[in-house]
Amino acid sequence: MVKRQYIARRHRNVTLPPLSKTDEMSRRYDDVIDLSVGDPDMACDREIIEQMYADALAGHTKYTEFQGDGELRTAICRAYQEDHNCLFDKDNIMITSGGTHAMFLLMESVLDEGDEVIVIAPFYTYYEPQIQLGRGKMVIYPTDKDNDFELNVTDLEQLITLKTKAVIVNTPNNPTGRVYHESSIKQFIALADQHDFLIIADDIYSALNFTDRTTPIHCYDSTNPRIITIYSFSKDFLMTGFRLGYVVADREIIKTLRNVNEAVNFTVNAMAQRAGIYALQKRHAIWSELAVEYKKRADYAYHRIKQMKNMDTYKPEGTFYLFVDIRQTGLTSEEVWEMMLDQAHVLVQPGSGFGVAGEGYLRIALTCDVEVLTEAFDRIEQMDVFR
Ligand SMILES: Cc1ncc(COP(=O)(O)O)c(C=O)c1O
Repeated sequence: MVKRQYIARRHRNVTLPPLSKTDEMSRRYDDVIDLSVGDPDMACDREIIEQMYADALAGHTKYTEFQGDGELRTAICRAYQEDHNCLFDKDNIMITSGGTHAMFLLMESVLDEGDEVIVIAPFYTYYEPQIQLGRGKMVIYPTDKDNDFELNVTDLEQLITLKTKAVIVNTPNNPTGRVYHESSIKQFIALADQHDFLIIADDIYSALNFTDRTTPIHCYDSTNPRIITIYSFSKDFLMTGFRLGYVVADREIIKTLRNVNEAVNFTVNAMAQRAGIYALQKRHAIWSELAVEYKKRADYAYHRIKQMKNMDTYKPEGTFYLFVDIRQTGLTSEEVWEMMLDQAHVLVQPGSGFGVAGEGYLRIALTCDVEVLTEAFDRIEQMDVFR
């Protein structure tokens, strides 16, 4: 038995987010429909796996360039140029093991003790520990449903202090499914220039966007050294298990990420990086298929939720999540979360897991096809509270 005093003080009293509990909860009943974790049900494209396998046999099983496979970094630059007419050099890119690793490296690289990072709430669960691991302080800027969860740059400006180092912006947004408006993004970049803070654009759902507002934040001003992009192949390419992503940033920042990473991960899985090259070659076909499927699911779920008592939501604009307002029940999101599992055997996420602005909501991940979603909503509809 490990003695408690062997554990670092800062890790002794960690409160785990609700997401950590879903692993156990999904096994509570034999017939649970799991709409909790953002892990897509569909399989990664077979050709990508076959090409990756061929490359592994051909010798891509060693450490790669420290900043990441040069061919992959060139392919990423080409994709930004072709899709958005946005020019980056491959030296501006660092390959990572997904968005999680990217955010860890970034926080470690840019934060000094006590630096403030503003997150837009409701927010992705792991931003808080990621900022804390980097010794920073999270400052919450809440958005709300009555304002369509849109950014209000004037309100956000009130939170800026001399310690503000960065603001994290995730669009399309997890958990709200919101895609921020171009005018908000432009004002936001102007604010970063004025107050000299970094914009960390978490673009991990960028292909799952049902609107025409598809320009990545970085491409509004590609040479602006204050803008940093985090991207991941997890969701847009159904590649969560490959653990592949990247950061686009100013060269000095990338150099620091690389130095930090040499002691953390050294280099990213060589085969996954090869898969990234092939994934990018097929990106348009993969993205259009995914967008059609998720839009179909989102429209179906939206329609069912709108018909239910004590539930409300708005037209999803992107990602594969629906953020559902359950305030009319008079119950907390964790109470409804448990109740839904016990009464309907449907597992979702409580909004409280996304910060206080998420209280009164549930997040439903559309990680099942319409047939299974039909069964899930049929069961939920039988619950007293929603009947
Ligand atoms: C907003 C957001 N950022 C980052 C991540 C990290 O994903 P990964 O580490 O698989 O790239 C996720 C995963 O769900 C997410 O929703």
